[in-house]
Amino acid sequence: MQLPDEAIEYQYSRLVSPLGEAWTPLVELQSKHFLTQERVEQTRTLLNAVRGQVAAERELLNPPAKLQPLQPGFIDLPQKTLDAYRRKGDASELGKVIRLANRLKENVDRVVVLGIGGSFLGAKALFDSLCHTYHNELPPKMRMGKPRIYFEGNNFDNDALQDLLEVLENTCVEPELPEERWGIVVISKSGGTLETAAAYRAIRAELAKFYGAKSDWLKKLVVPITGPKSKLRDLAKAEGIVDDDILTIPDDVGGRYSVFTPVGLLPAAVMGLDVRALLLGGAAMTKRFLEEPFDRNPVLQFAAVNHLMNEELGKSTRVMAVWTKKLEAVGWWYDQLLSESLGKTNRGATPITSVYSRDLHSRGQQHQDGTRDKAITNLVVRTAKHQPIQIGMADRNEDDLNQFSRKAMPDLLDAAFRGTNQAYHDAARPTADIILPGINEHVMGQLLQMLMLATVVEGRLSNTNPYGQPGVEAYKKNMMTLLKATPNLPKGEVRDAAKGA
Ligand code: PA5
Repeated sequence: MQLPDEAIEYQYSRLVSPLGEAWTPLVELQSKHFLTQERVEQTRTLLNAVRGQVAAERELLNPPAKLQPLQPGFIDLPQKTLDAYRRKGDASELGKVIRLANRLKENVDRVVVLGIGGSFLGAKALFDSLCHTYHNELPPKMRMGKPRIYFEGNNFDNDALQDLLEVLENTCVEPELPEERWGIVVISKSGGTLETAAAYRAIRAELAKFYGAKSDWLKKLVVPITGPKSKLRDLAKAEGIVDDDILTIPDDVGGRYSVFTPVGLLPAAVMGLDVRALLLGGAAMTKRFLEEPFDRNPVLQFAAVNHLMNEELGKSTRVMAVWTKKLEAVGWWYDQLLSESLGKTNRGATPITSVYSRDLHSRGQQHQDGTRDKAITNLVVRTAKHQPIQIGMADRNEDDLNQFSRKAMPDLLDAAFRGTNQAYHDAARPTADIILPGINEHVMGQLLQMLMLATVVEGRLSNTNPYGQPGVEAYKKNMMTLLKATPNLPKGEVRDAAKGA
């Protein structure tokens, strides 16, 4: 089910060199930094082959060594999850997600979501884009039963963690009062990620202090989400959490591709989001990717354009310019997706997220005039959710704004959008647009799936395995060696970080 007016579009005509224009210095410059339509056309055969390969990889039971690791489970996951829910209802994984989310929503007013990388950024992107900008500050009545959400366990950050503990200690005093109760969602596929595991220990200890070490709430208000076998699963069971209350991340779905597993779905359901619409959006994008020709296929178009920009035109910095703060965390999510998927064997574009128009006052100078290593994708929303806020007439016109009195915020944004693209075009700076009809669950489902699929296609185009992240292991190994080799300090003494080991 994809409503026609809800389909995402990708527009890249601005970065295609104009054909048959008389020579000018600008046309010359654009021919160096833009693509030709012919070059894009030439990739179609290759793209179709790659699409066939990516589709076939879904069926491989024993992938050859050169394809490993291979984790294509995310591709069909949205549809499969919906189908299983229709068939098995509460006994399906989505049924469990909804049951556990309802339990949290009905019993607590605050939820701490612990996780890092792929076990954090998808949920954060959904929270920021789809929930009220000031969700946690809203009075309970306006939140309509949706708990406040805090993200932690995504950094070794003593002071930020302490600040959260302080908030919990000072606002949650009486466990009998539902409005003071809180719970935990702890997410780690491997179950051994130190950032998350260490934070879980601290937050779980706080929970035990609040409810009492023997309280049943400790088993009911902690939801672990982890791989089929992991230390976290063992720990959760040892803490008395029953199997049916532990959610599973399938083996064939990699961390940064896991937003449609319980990793994204459980936090989304706790936030009160429509998880079925989210999955429908994801499923619609997979269908489009597999069935539509290049001209109507944003996955193939986005992958082809960005692949050519990086590999052939040397645009090795990929800017995701999001035209609303609500989408900044989508940019961070894409930063991780691109970095860990394609940043391998000394290759891969470097992602950067900018919020426009905000960052036109910081990065804009560089994007307009700096090193010519950038390709910019605007992530733009066609219609704002709320009533336009007008500038209006004022008695004092020293700011000279009365001339725009009938203009509203969306008009200002639109002028900035068009003005920026024109300025970049006139300086031969390539830009393209992903156009969202609005921001809702169905659109977000399409967007996230589009970017995941395009990343896999781009990986196959450039012979880079988009799955796995072997480069992340080096720091972990060194960190563990150092931790084991460094003596514990006496209780109460603090290490001076500046002095190192
Ligand atoms: O994409 C990935 O696999 C990684 O970014 C992981 O999501 C991240 O390292 C967290 O891993 P885990 O879920 O095992 O704690």
